[in-house]
Amino acid sequence: MSGRKPLLAPPEFGAPVSPIHPSSETLDLLATRRSTPVAMLGEPGPPADDLRDMLRLALRVPDHRKLEPWRVLVIEGAAREALGEAFAAALKASRPDASALELDEARGLPMRAPVIATVISSPVDDPKKTPVWEQELSAGAVCQTLMIAAQAMGWAACWISEWPAYDAGVAKALGLSERERVAGFIYLGTAKAEPVERARPDIAKKVQSWQG
Ligand SMILES: Cc1cc2nc3c(=O)[nH]c(=O)nc-3n(C[C@H](O)[C@H](O)[C@H](O)COP(=O)(O)O)c2cc1C
Repeated sequence: MSGRKPLLAPPEFGAPVSPIHPSSETLDLLATRRSTPVAMLGEPGPPADDLRDMLRLALRVPDHRKLEPWRVLVIEGAAREALGEAFAAALKASRPDASALELDEARGLPMRAPVIATVISSPVDDPKKTPVWEQELSAGAVCQTLMIAAQAMGWAACWISEWPAYDAGVAKALGLSERERVAGFIYLGTAKAEPVERARPDIAKKVQSWQG
């Protein structure tokens, strides 16, 4: 468990929960957090207990009407090779002229990190008509919370889509239903090199005060 303190137990259902959590460590993480480009990821990956705990945290996200419109496929070890084969087969099906090199590249994509937590947006038909958009936003929240939880546990992470997230053959191989989509392949491992800071948004351009 990387020597970390065990996670707090989830509060009992209905128990009062503090609305705030002042934490300078959380602020430090958010002020400096950086994804690790997938090419910089390597072994080792998070062990089972870290994975279980980070996924528990990742599923504790805002979710309108408690629909739980997401699920996660953990792909690690030899299963990555099966995913690589599925990527190559999907590429061949959609582009029969793909070269051997392109097929090999496709096969190699999942091998770039020891663990891939594949977050699936899984919207449900809600009688109260919660928009699919809101359900998909919740899946995005799962992805980012997973990134943050992983980094707080000491694991490097990168949220990747690439073409396989949009490929029907890959969706079939992953067992996705018609309505499900890959929200993100969250590649998890250890950084082989330190990523450098990238350009960040200009707050003044992105945030305005709306006065009516
Ligand atoms: C939905 C989504 C899909 C992404 N897909 C890719 C991708 O396929 N390839 C890639 O290099 N970065 C992708 N990124 C960007 C990286 O995950 C990351 O956000 C980016 O490198 C910026 O790093 P930062 O998290 O340090 O700000 C994606 C981001 C999001 C939100």
